[in-house]
Amino acid sequence: SKGKALAKAAIKNVEKHAVLGAGIMGGGIAYQSAVKGVPTIMKDINQAALNLGLSEAAKILETGMQRGKVDAKKMASTLNNIIPTLDMNAISDADLIIEAVVENPKVKASVLKEIESTVADDAIITSNTSTISINQLAKSLEDPTRFCGMHFFNPVHKMPLVEIIRGDNTDDATISAVVAATLKMGKTPIVVNDCPGFLVNRVLFPYFAGFSKLLLDGADFSAIDKVMEKVFGWPMGPAYLLDVVGLDTADHAASVMAEGIPERMRKIENDPITLLYTNARLGQKNAMGFYNYG
Ligand code: CAA
Ligand code: NAD
Repeated sequence: SKGKALAKAAIKNVEKHAVLGAGIMGGGIAYQSAVKGVPTIMKDINQAALNLGLSEAAKILETGMQRGKVDAKKMASTLNNIIPTLDMNAISDADLIIEAVVENPKVKASVLKEIESTVADDAIITSNTSTISINQLAKSLEDPTRFCGMHFFNPVHKMPLVEIIRGDNTDDATISAVVAATLKMGKTPIVVNDCPGFLVNRVLFPYFAGFSKLLLDGADFSAIDKVMEKVFGWPMGPAYLLDVVGLDTADHAASVMAEGIPERMRKIENDPITLLYTNARLGQKNAMGFYNYG
């Protein structure tokens, strides 16, 4: 079977990445792998998204130069390592694929199927899903042994953690290869078991839900942010962080968790996050969320 091809190999040496989805996360992941010298295909279905992904990478590099972390040579090689494309066939020779399309189980299942039918039998396939169970996503693949979660945090170039999520059928060789690739990307891997929300989002989303409930009780979002930032000492309050995450993504993720672990999370009626999202306020990505930007 396809799985055996991978299990037999020693830890697979990953040389080329492909990132599917060039949004907030896909753009950041492509930057992070390119800056560490790995040729990285960045695939989207939308040219505007590809352009945005590339301009995000350029922006990070420019601030990196201002901060003295990046020189002109590094900037050129990083941009050179990002290969933008709308063509699925372009990922056929990648050996680590990171799926980072919208947080929708149906879209992800169909993208994962398409990936599997395009790449080599021993390529490793991962998903950057925030909350969807890896075992559930694995059902869309013929060979779940070469699949696991590879969950980055936003903003990717600043957040050190990557959760690597082991599904019931994930091979040890897959986990080892993804741990090695994470380290090569300059990040800190932790291997966790599967559950909607994994580790961090099981802590973070109940916090967001608590914030929504406070708003429904009449609290002011910017007052809560001020308290969490200036008095409690966190880098940012919940409203600002939700704008960073994206209100559409946060709303989808909260629904997936409420469905997957109802004993821990319940969908909030009239959730202000849902209301903002359905009124096309998506957060920083479209310059309007709890706050206005730009
Ligand atoms: N190029 C290269 N490296 C850079 C860089 C650049 N342009 N900009 C930053 N960095 C790196 C550097 O290593 C830098 O550290 P040093 O300068 O000390 O070497 C590090 O990133 C931190 O950069 P900053 O000094 O700008 O950091 P900061 O003090 O502004 O803090 C932060 C940044 C830690 C991200 C902080 O703002 C924070 O904690 N924000 C909250 C983020 C968060 O909670 N994210 C999770 C969202 S939820 C999620 O992602 C999961 C999900 O599934 C929805
Ligand atoms: P986003 O909305 O910024 O980007 C999604 C991108 O996927 C868009 O560019 C869209 O054009 C593209 N896309 C949609 N269908 C596609 C397809 N069939 N093939 C290729 N590309 C396609 O979303 P995001 O915030 O980057 O989130 C992406 C994934 O990462 C989600 O699963 C999300 O839960 C997860 N995630 C998000 C965060 C966060 O803070 N935003 C953090 C960690 C993980």
